Amino acid sequence: MAEHGIKRLLLTSRRGLKAEGADQLVAELSGLGAEVTVVAADAADRAALRAALDVIPDEHPLTGVVHTAGVLDDGLFNALTPERLEAVLRPKVDGAWNLHDLTRDQQHLTAFVLFSSIAGTIGGPGQSNYAAANVFMDALAQHRRANGLSATSVAWGLWEQISGMTGQLDETDLKRMARAGFKPVGIQDGPAMLDSALQLDRAAVVANPLDIAAMRRQPGKPLTVLGALVRTPFRGKARNTGTGGGTLAEQLAVLAPEDRLAFLVRRLLAEVAEVLGHTDAGRIDAEQSFTALGFDSSPRSSCATASTSSPQPSCGPRWSSTTPPRPRWPISC
Ligand SMILES: NC(=O)c1ccc[n+]([C@@H]2O[C@H](COP(=O)([O-])OP(=O)(O)OC[C@H]3O[C@@H](n4cnc5c(N)ncnc54)[C@H](OP(=O)(O)O)[C@@H]3O)[C@@H](O)[C@H]2O)c1
Repeated sequence: MAEHGIKRLLLTSRRGLKAEGADQLVAELSGLGAEVTVVAADAADRAALRAALDVIPDEHPLTGVVHTAGVLDDGLFNALTPERLEAVLRPKVDGAWNLHDLTRDQQHLTAFVLFSSIAGTIGGPGQSNYAAANVFMDALAQHRRANGLSATSVAWGLWEQISGMTGQLDETDLKRMARAGFKPVGIQDGPAMLDSALQLDRAAVVANPLDIAAMRRQPGKPLTVLGALVRTPFRGKARNTGTGGGTLAEQLAVLAPEDRLAFLVRRLLAEVAEVLGHTDAGRIDAEQSFTALGFDSSPRSSCATASTSSPQPSCGPRWSSTTPPRPRWPISC
């Protein structure tokens, strides 16, 4: 704030000053010399947002907008309902559009920053609704620039600092992301990355430290979007299945009927071990439920996705045997 000469701030969220830590934040910002006003307003409610913006005095016109509102409701795609989709799209799609539309005539507005997520760029297990919401942010930035307005959409990777949206991630999630080469954004690094992103003349920027070596170690084909960074010859995932190659159906076909169930269980446990970060599938108890093993919807769908680059065990949602191999997705936020 001091570096950018920001002296007046209008902060809005649905809870406003009732949000946990709001008082401390105001005190901290005031201590840094800012004049802070907090207004409770739902950004997706156009009238409420307009009323919040009306608080801004004419003598100190709006010079910058930073949209950070977001809500998560992760779940497998086929478990999504219109309500679950709406809940996640609302703060981003409606909120960002309202901000854009209500401020587009502001003559002094030189910064319009949208907090997006790498989930929109590379996908994220269980995050189809959230990915869509963030792609809208990136597209809105493009739209604004195409119309001569300022805009930068910053697609963040996971922040190191726990927040309202990421508090439920556990160690398994974090390890899975680290294995996939996506390092968290450090508390010190975040502001510097934001500054760098805003200096680029780009509508949409991804802000995520990457561990390219870890990405190269990943089995399977790298994500297309990362292809230029992760140059490695495609290595199909080596699997000691005890059968020859071919599709899962072909492998099962050459087995005696009484051996097929054991084969499938072995394959499934190997996938589960990989998704949970165990090097030894023998540590997985086949009698335990997915939930007891530590799965939620995100690893389940990661398991399903991971499996499509190889013959397919019955893990997570079903997919067609004609589905082409897809790259593996890390979890994201
Ligand atoms: N944390 C991460 O690792 C991470 C990674 C990538 C991207 N991001 C993005 O960064 C932004 C901030 O994330 P965060 O982790 O700081 O989340 P957070 O702590 O949950 O903050 C999100 C804020 O959005 C507000 N909000 C939600 N719906 C709103 C609405 N309709 N109108 C106005 N305010 C609304 C919430 O306050 P109320 O409940 O009071 O409304 C809350 O203060 C999000 O856009 C997120 O997608 C975060």
